[in-house]
Amino acid sequence: MQIGILGVGNIGATLTQRLSTAGHEVKVANSRGPETIPAEVTASGGRAVHAHDVVTDVEALVVSIPLVRVPDIRPLVDRLPAGAVLLDTSNYYPFRDGHITALDEGQVESLWVAEQLGRPVVKAWNAILSGSFATKHAAAGTPGRIAIPVAADAEADRALGMALVEDTGLDAVDAGPLADSWRQQPGAPVYCTDLTREEVPGALAAAVATRSPRRRDLAMTVLAELLGDPTVDRGPDFLVQVNRLLYS
Ligand SMILES: NC(=O)c1ccc[n+]([C@@H]2O[C@H](COP(=O)([O-])OP(=O)(O)OC[C@H]3O[C@@H](n4cnc5c(N)ncnc54)[C@H](OP(=O)(O)O)[C@@H]3O)[C@@H](O)[C@H]2O)c1
Repeated sequence: MQIGILGVGNIGATLTQRLSTAGHEVKVANSRGPETIPAEVTASGGRAVHAHDVVTDVEALVVSIPLVRVPDIRPLVDRLPAGAVLLDTSNYYPFRDGHITALDEGQVESLWVAEQLGRPVVKAWNAILSGSFATKHAAAGTPGRIAIPVAADAEADRALGMALVEDTGLDAVDAGPLADSWRQQPGAPVYCTDLTREEVPGALAAAVATRSPRRRDLAMTVLAELLGDPTVDRGPDFLVQVNRLLYS
């Protein structure tokens, strides 16, 4: 499949490597130009291009940029082929993105993104930490493989998103329409807690809309305190452990 990836940070770089390895023809871009994209990102396949090229001749575009930047890319997304599927990995953190006044607390993030971009999105890969995504992928059928939710309004778009998630070494769980995707936002039990296919449905069902934002902000405060001392090595799974404790 011809796939464009916009954003080559923590998540976009791993997406590029995994989707290329899975056999997709991938183009990747950031805001600063292809010469700024590290060679290792495309070492296993994929082509670094200018942002204006990443939307041409693709069947899917994955947007993996800070949510605060989403409104900026509307002109690019307007040039996507009509039938292309748009996927988005973003999450909203008011501590970091507080100057977005258009996104009110309680507003479903993916619906806001779709409104900004003027077309439906598939919400995927938002609920896995970049460290887990980079290191914990596994072949389909591997016991304990990490699973993540995928939400979209059109069945066909959701199915495509789930297939691509599976191509990146994760199990995909159908999380229903975008209106329900608050269940996979920061602070929810499924959010960045490295659950399995068996565990994800229960975690989605257990989400409480009013609790997730409070727990998200609590986690930011706890992490700022606990990670404040750079001489203390908390280990690779520390964030997942904190999330499991605070979001369950
Ligand atoms: N980090 C995580 O653990 C994690 C987990 C799940 C989901 N997410 C979400 O996934 C998204 C990406 O996260 P990340 O950690 O990968 O971010 P990141 O490391 O900060 O990378 C962001 C990327 O977006 C690009 N970008 C920003 N504005 C752009 C624009 N207007 N046009 C084109 N490219 C633009 C940046 O390129 P330039 O530097 O050239 O601007 C950069 O390559 C965020 O929404 C985040 O909330 C993150």
